[in-house]
Amino acid sequence: MTVASSGTQPVRIEQDVVLARQTARKLAQDCGMRLIDLTKMVTAVSELARNTMVYGGGGDMDWQIIEEHGRTGLRITFRDEGPGIPDLKLAMTDGWTSGGGLGLGLTGAKRLVNDFELDTAPGAGTRVTITRWT
Ligand SMILES: Nc1ncnc2c1ncn2[C@@H]1O[C@H](COP(=O)(O)OP(=O)(O)OP(=O)(O)O)[C@@H](O)[C@H]1O
Ligand SMILES: [Mg+2]
Repeated sequence: MTVASSGTQPVRIEQDVVLARQTARKLAQDCGMRLIDLTKMVTAVSELARNTMVYGGGGDMDWQIIEEHGRTGLRITFRDEGPGIPDLKLAMTDGWTSGGGLGLGLTGAKRLVNDFELDTAPGAGTRVTITRWT
């Protein structure tokens, strides 16, 4: 796998969630992603950025345009140093929320991308990486 380009931006305040969406949209366009896939990726980014801000206490978004076996992908990581997720199985259940949300952000995001990885531990923060191939 090669990294064609990469960057980082903060995800701390409401406006950063908007900027995260805008960056994801532009990168997906640059990758030549189909509109349907672009929309899925941007929706997943929106959910994860909001979780980073709301539950993670803010963090960062790292992005990479990657190439592997002649295909191009957009990989985005959200990372925070917040409280972490004590019960990941529960958090990955449709409809479960700790905070009065719909509890569909994580599970929805997972369904919208080709690859979804979540690393978390109580007190050690949360890191979610999603990838969508063109
Ligand atoms: N970055 C994070 N740090 C700590 N806890 C998190 C983080 N992201 C998600 N969680 C926990 O996982 C739960 C499920 O997240 P999910 O996004 O699926 O639902 P929600 O944010 O509660 O509601 P929705 O996104 O549907 O409005 C959250 O309620 C929260 O407890
Ligand atoms: Mg959410």
